Amino acid sequence: MIDDEIDMKEFDLKAFLAARKEHIDQALEEYLPAPVGLEKSVIEAARYSLFAGGKRLRPILCIQAAEVVGGTADMVMPVACAMEMIHTYSLIHDDLPAMDNDDFRRGQPTNHKVFGEAIAILAGDALLTEAFGLIAATQKDERVPPQKILQAIGIVTKASGYRGMIGGQVIDLECETREVDLATVEYMHIHKTGAILSACLELGALLGGGSTAEVAALVKYGQHFGLAFQITDDLLDVEGDAALMGKQPGSDLAKNKKTYPALLGLAKSRESAKAHVEAALTAVSAFEEGAEPLRAIARYLLVRKA
Ligand code: IPE
Ligand code: IPE
Ligand code: MG
Ligand code: MG
Ligand code: MG
Repeated sequence: MIDDEIDMKEFDLKAFLAARKEHIDQALEEYLPAPVGLEKSVIEAARYSLFAGGKRLRPILCIQAAEVVGGTADMVMPVACAMEMIHTYSLIHDDLPAMDNDDFRRGQPTNHKVFGEAIAILAGDALLTEAFGLIAATQKDERVPPQKILQAIGIVTKASGYRGMIGGQVIDLECETREVDLATVEYMHIHKTGAILSACLELGALLGGGSTAEVAALVKYGQHFGLAFQITDDLLDVEGDAALMGKQPGSDLAKNKKTYPALLGLAKSRESAKAHVEAALTAVSAFEEGAEPLRAIARYLLVRKA
């Protein structure tokens, strides 16, 4: 949900995001249709979380990166949706009792609350695995060279595995029981959240046909975006509204999570988020008007309520 404070004169971000989300939801519906066989409960569970109303920021960023370098949404749609599947899997597992033990996500009871822990674990596993199949299916598109698909698989593996998101999640859990400095929290945020987000930009730019310099600029945008995104997620956990967020605030404090507000306080955390948004804007300054959606999405982080 986009906040009313956003300057709608410059660029209608709300309408833009809604249109993108609709397009992505249609593609996801095609890639993960309603289940039929005996194993259908796991796909029902996966679809329950996938279609629960996520913002779809990761696939949107992937598509924007492709477009800003001259590619099209269609070229990267399977990869963009694969990243949303991996993100959704990470949320299902993140909410499990053994991890953050949360009861609400995307405005409804968490996956394990509805389907039980075993099916929630398997639904996450199924989304992760299917994501790679979806990336492999990009080979049917003649505009995307097989060499780039192989490169993409390497990028997704690094960003979602122990060198990226999983690594960050491990640090997040292990830091619950020890004191850490800000550099450690930054490292954790870069891994648990920044890695997937910046991979979305990198994948879009790569598959969309961007030059080495363009890919590097978009990765830089993604890295700063990722940090700003997790800092604002930490802030929302302190001062956000459950009805708008679709998840329960106060979860981090209850579990002694090491967040920016916990280490820096609210005001300095906001300043840090702002500095990363500014750095993200600087990273894409060479793209001129083509990067307007990317700029608007980055600015929105500072006012987001969900
Ligand atoms: C939540 O991500 C998890 C974090 C990495 C902080 P989002 O806020 O993008 O969640 P959805 O996809 O919109 O539900
Ligand atoms: C989650 O961070 C990052 C993931 C990789 C899922 P959080 O634990 O802060 O995300 P929320 O607040 O539960 O969405
Ligand atoms: Mg967590
Ligand atoms: Mg969590
Ligand atoms: Mg959080």
